[in-house]
Amino acid sequence: MTDKLRLGILASGGGTNLQSIIDHCAANSLDAEIVTVISNNPDAGALARASNAGIPAQIINHRDFSTRDEFDRTVVSALQSAQVELVVLAGFMRIITDTFVTAFPNRIINIHPALLPAFPGLNVQRKAIEYGVRFSGCTVHLVDGGVDTGPIIMQAVVPVLTDDNEDTLAARILVQEHKIYPRVIQLFAENRVKVTGRHVYIDPAPQAASGVLVNPALDD
Ligand code: GRF
Repeated sequence: MTDKLRLGILASGGGTNLQSIIDHCAANSLDAEIVTVISNNPDAGALARASNAGIPAQIINHRDFSTRDEFDRTVVSALQSAQVELVVLAGFMRIITDTFVTAFPNRIINIHPALLPAFPGLNVQRKAIEYGVRFSGCTVHLVDGGVDTGPIIMQAVVPVLTDDNEDTLAARILVQEHKIYPRVIQLFAENRVKVTGRHVYIDPAPQAASGVLVNPALDD
């Protein structure tokens, strides 16, 4: 059996994506293990989820640092001490610096609750509803120096329904997040993620998704 991919998960909030990765690891559907969970927020629900699963967790509070770079250097050294091979941002509410990005080239991934490049940044479910888009969804992407700008690895499309509010839309998007994030991690575990400039290739390539989505439906 090959060694499991060593994951370091960074989370600032409730941690449902962390939980989904914990559950997939426990079910042996991921050739990966979470070796550390790091939160910048001492009150993050993610810390309790890590502790319930017996995963070492640490708080590195950004408020204890005078610069972003100093904070990032401490996070990077914690990840390196844990011999992390893939850094997984799961609701990590900090912009990361080049210091961090260059320490883990093409080995930091993020999940964003919109179909990038539409709606980067914060409160994006509300912005999608306010804009009136018919589809939103979620995106797993590599992290570069920008805000939600890195090469896209996988996306799931979620229709926006007439009576949606930001909470109902966020909840339906989260269901898909919990599916695609573990899937992408498994692709890394299988060493199938190849990056050329902005383009990410899965090697060998899975069957292309063929469905065309129309919302509202053409026929009623
Ligand atoms: C998710 O919507 C994720 O896409 C975004 O932050 C949220 C984190 O949720 N980056 P959780 O903490 O995993 O429940």
